[in-house]
Amino acid sequence: MKMIVAIVKPAVTEAVMDALAEIGISGLTVSEVKGHGRQKGQTEIYRGAEYQVTLVPKVRFEIAVEDAVADSVVDTISKTASTGKIGDGKVFVMDLSSAMRIRTGERDSEAINA
Ligand SMILES: Nc1ncnc2c1ncn2[C@@H]1O[C@H](COP(=O)(O)OP(=O)(O)OP(=O)(O)O)[C@@H](O)[C@H]1O
Ligand SMILES: [Mg+2]
Repeated sequence: MKMIVAIVKPAVTEAVMDALAEIGISGLTVSEVKGHGRQKGQTEIYRGAEYQVTLVPKVRFEIAVEDAVADSVVDTISKTASTGKIGDGKVFVMDLSSAMRIRTGERDSEAINA
């Protein structure tokens, strides 16, 4: 299993959720977060300007999936979240060692599938 963490622009949140529903993703977590990338939150850097790091609002998706669908989830998010502008975000993929549906005690595949 993989845990996919995607940081995207807030404006694409609904589109990403719709696209994930279309490919059969049943569970996910969405959080409002703040962060910065290599522009340090600045959209323009003026010569001689005082250097300051700014945090920009973003939305964080967390989706636990089977290995077999991880690539399609990453592709779906990147296509849907892409505006071609700076700050479009990142997708991180981590190995996930276990999962449990608390109500039933089901584990791993059974815990993350509908
Ligand atoms: N290395 C990182 N680790 C964790 N989170 C990151 C990292 N890089 C970016 N992020 C998160 O993703 C958000 C969007 O990053 P962003 O798309 O601006 O990355 P970037 O590397 O600056 O690329 P770009 O040049 O396209 O803007 C950041 O606000 C931050 O929340
Ligand atoms: Mg950036």
